[in-house]
Amino acid sequence: MTPAHAPDLPVPAQAPCSPPSPMNAPPLTTDPAPSWPLAPTADTADVALPPPPLAGRHLVLGVTGGVAAYKAAQLVRDLQRAGASVQVVMTGAATHFVGTATFQALSGRPVFTGAFDTRIDDGMAHIELSRNAEAIVIAPASADFLAKVTHGLCDDLLSTLCLARDVPLLVAPAMNRQMWQNAATQRNINQLRADGVQVLGPDAGEQACGEVGAGRMLEPAVLVEELSDFFTPKALQGKRILMTAGPTYEAIDPVRGITNLSSGKMGYALAQACRQAGALVTLVSGPTALPRPYGVRFLPVQSAQQMLDTVMAELDMAASTISIDCFIGVAAVADWRPLQVASQKIKKERGLAQDDMTLALTQNPDILASVARRPDAPYCVGFAAESEDLVHHATEKRARKGVPLLVGNLGPATFGQDDNTLILVDEHGTRTLPAGSKTALARWLAQELGRRLPA
Ligand code: C5P
Repeated sequence: MTPAHAPDLPVPAQAPCSPPSPMNAPPLTTDPAPSWPLAPTADTADVALPPPPLAGRHLVLGVTGGVAAYKAAQLVRDLQRAGASVQVVMTGAATHFVGTATFQALSGRPVFTGAFDTRIDDGMAHIELSRNAEAIVIAPASADFLAKVTHGLCDDLLSTLCLARDVPLLVAPAMNRQMWQNAATQRNINQLRADGVQVLGPDAGEQACGEVGAGRMLEPAVLVEELSDFFTPKALQGKRILMTAGPTYEAIDPVRGITNLSSGKMGYALAQACRQAGALVTLVSGPTALPRPYGVRFLPVQSAQQMLDTVMAELDMAASTISIDCFIGVAAVADWRPLQVASQKIKKERGLAQDDMTLALTQNPDILASVARRPDAPYCVGFAAESEDLVHHATEKRARKGVPLLVGNLGPATFGQDDNTLILVDEHGTRTLPAGSKTALARWLAQELGRRLPA
């Protein structure tokens, strides 16, 4: 097993089209979404979507003596939910914090603590336990344990497993801030890194001892992200990717606005997948209810104009520093915004005979097309959310926006959902991807981008 690594330009007029804003959104409860596919495509689904990075992986989780040992119990659960199987090995000190029974029940496997455990047939637990594992993860890793591993000491099962391993070792330090900052610990950490050990964290914040500083173990969910990164092929290593996602919100007055049904799930999944594939991702996002993707530079905006300004500022900044390799417009940008935004809440005028209210709208700038027209345009990818004749509209949109790659999906069928069906349109034609979760499709797209971006 070998893991992977172990703003301002002229604004064009834009034809009103999808994604749906409240002006053109399909009714929510009448006709069902059109069935897939809407039109014949050049090929059928001919790609396999990659499994989640931790699916089917077997890991040894080493737990050492520290208060954060209780979080290792959650880590076991989270790793299993991510598809991994976990063999827990504890040091004697760790058992003072959490009992073996807890880890046994959670992992569904016996927990090993001693070097002379007779439950392994040949009596060599220190060798056998890591042989069918793809990595050893130590979480929490105490200062004492890290010192032992640095110097090759092996006076218990876990330290011996680390010395006798032929798999990658990842450690998540957890200790008091002064223990972490101590020159001895820092020397050890530098040596471990030099020896190829992956050091995950630590985090900074409130500590069990009441002090505040660096030394907290990364949260289990973050460790799962880091481990997922570790096992993802680095098709986009070092690439700089700028993305938009989510809906935009166009204010009518201080309490009302126009938006659309985009949840942001596809864009956030793609941001995460690109980061896991090694890219440095900046995500310009409209308002969503989603947690910020881990490890991604996050720039929240509201309106299409703010989104355009932010994107252009990023590109301008990159022009004088390190250029951006790819721009991906996943956002469902509102096509129109109110011509004027009322400074106070618009009141119903009592006593007026008419019930109707007319709102004057003006078109929003097309962010994607504006980026694609720049002389320094990066590789541009657009998304098209259509409600009918997807192939035709996506093909026309790719040409109109002037982008090399356009990803099409059915807006009404996918907005807010966890699953999606995508087509890819480029200069060669159309390609249909298998239906799948947005995260699986995003992982495939990230690897595909790696094949398309110039080296
Ligand atoms: O024209 P339509 O909204 O269907 O185009 C969809 C694609 O264009 C998406 O990639 C979307 O992010 C982008 N777009 C944009 N600015 C707009 C409208 C759409 O960047 N004003």
